[in-house]
Parts: sequence; structure tokens; C-alpha cells
Amino acid sequence: MQYNNTNMIVIGGSNANNIDKNLIKLLNAKGANLVHKRFPDGEQYVRIEDSLAGKTVVIVQSLYPNQDSALMELLLILEAVQALKPARVITVVPYLAYARQDKRFLTGEPISVRVVLEALNLYTKDTLITIDIHKPESLKYFKGTSMNIIPVKSIANALRRDINGLEKRDVVVIAPDKGAFRRAELLAKELGDVDYDYLEKFRDRHTGEVIHKLKEVNVRGRIAILVDDIISTGGTIAKAAKMLYDEGAREVIAACSHGLFVDNALNKLAGSKITKVYSTNTVPQPSGVRVVDVSTEIAERIKEVVKS
Ligand code: R5P
Repeated sequence: MQYNNTNMIVIGGSNANNIDKNLIKLLNAKGANLVHKRFPDGEQYVRIEDSLAGKTVVIVQSLYPNQDSALMELLLILEAVQALKPARVITVVPYLAYARQDKRFLTGEPISVRVVLEALNLYTKDTLITIDIHKPESLKYFKGTSMNIIPVKSIANALRRDINGLEKRDVVVIAPDKGAFRRAELLAKELGDVDYDYLEKFRDRHTGEVIHKLKEVNVRGRIAILVDDIISTGGTIAKAAKMLYDEGAREVIAACSHGLFVDNALNKLAGSKITKVYSTNTVPQPSGVRVVDVSTEIAERIKEVVKS
């Protein structure tokens, strides 16, 4: 049965990366016209040209690239939306920037993720949906209902083509550190209960060198799928891939939720003999990356929110 929501309006900011358009189709909703301009001095201006009174409004804005300007645009949209008296507002932030600064590592630092989430709170205490935030606990700073989607269903669907026809024992999912272990576990389950493990970091007390060791699983002769939340410079994944090849992995594939690929990250990954790189479309992807669309997982979550 086709899902029909005539009462739902989807607004995409400049960083919606087409997820807004996909949601309009998947949810059978309507789009709204958002004017976005810059004044000569660089300040942003937005205007929503549709009536939102009594509607369920879904706003889509990723906070990468141009994190600061994307956040400001989202705040302007939220303020404008509230003034148009919608029945409810579901804010979809596929990539939530500043999430890695989730504590005061050193005295005098800010908790940056708190600043972002509390800023959103100024204009909405309704529902926030994000994809694979660095630490889900950070969502406590958002005072409405928040949901974190770890997009393993979408990533697994894409990866199935690569492992099609292989035996279960030929595939293993590896997290590059303990913090990413849960994601590896979820992906391994989606891939039909294949083995999973994480790399432990040790520092050589004499040389200071960081050494990675597999916790339990043997990767010899197997296809290792390295999975992380973010690939930024590619350093973490490149190092992990080298270690897996040293341990005898037949092939290493990398997959992440947010492929930022700054500097020469993709060259670094190619240099470490990673054969394929997957990222979702929470942020725009350069060529060479296999793009996984997360719109369906977001749409499913929105349907649940609206039903509840
Ligand atoms: C760190 O805790 C994150 O989960 C990623 O492993 C990290 O952000 C990746 O960064 P890079 O690609 O620069 O090594």
C-alpha cells in the first residue's frame, strides 16, 4: 500500500543533498519552496513561500560541508517555520557536525556538540532525526525527542553485491576501534550473522608507536569489511587496512556513514589497497566512492514518528 501524507511538507536546505526530494517521493509528501540568498555582506536570508499552518513539516539539512553556514541556515529555517504555525516539526540532520567534540578533553574547551544541539533547541523541541552521530549519548543535549539511525540496513544492501555467493565464513566485519564495535556488530547481523571484531590499540612503551591488534577473530584468507562512522583524513581506516592485510586478509573493503574524505583521503585509502569504499549520502560524495542512499531508512523512521 502506498504511504500517503497530504499533510506533510518537506523543506530542504542547501545541504539537503537530495534527501529532501527522495523523502517527498517515499512519503508521498509535498515540497515547499525555500528561497535562500546571501546579502552582499555574506549574511544569509531564507524565506518559506508556502503555508505551513497545521502541517507536519520535515526539514532536511546536513551540517557538512560548510558546517557553520549550514547550521546558521538551519536555525534561520527553523525560526521561520515556527512562525508559520505548523502542527509539528521533524528536523532531519543527516550529518551532525561538531559531534566529535563531545566533551572537554582539555580545561577551557567547549562541548561543541552541546552548542549545536542547544542552538536547535531554541527553535524546536519537537523531533530530531540524525544518522550515526559520533556518540549517541550526546543527543541528551537536545530537549525534544531524538533518534539516531545507524544505517546498517542500507550499507548491508549495498555490500551484498560484493559478498554474493561467498560462504558466511569468508566474510568478517571489523571496527577500527572499540568505540565502533556496536556498528560492526549490527552490520555483521545484517549481513547474515557473519563474524565481527574490533581492533585494539596498544602503545609500544619503548618506541611510542601505536599498534593495532585484532581482539579475537582471525582474518586470514577472508574478506574484511572495515566499518566506521566517519572517514575524514582516512588515516584511521588506512592504518587498520594495513594491519588486516598484514594479518592475511584476502581483501579489505571500507564502509562508513559519513565520508568526508578531506585532503587526500581517497588516495590514502587506495594506497592501503582498500578495494572499494562505501559511504552514505549524508554528505556529498566524490567520484570513486560507492554511494549508499539512506533516504529509505529516514523515511521509515518518519513514518513511525508520525504514527506514534
Ligand atoms: C573517531 O573516533 C571516528 O570514529 C573516526 O574513526 C575518525 O573520525 C576518522 O578520522 P580519520 O579518517 O581522519 O582518521
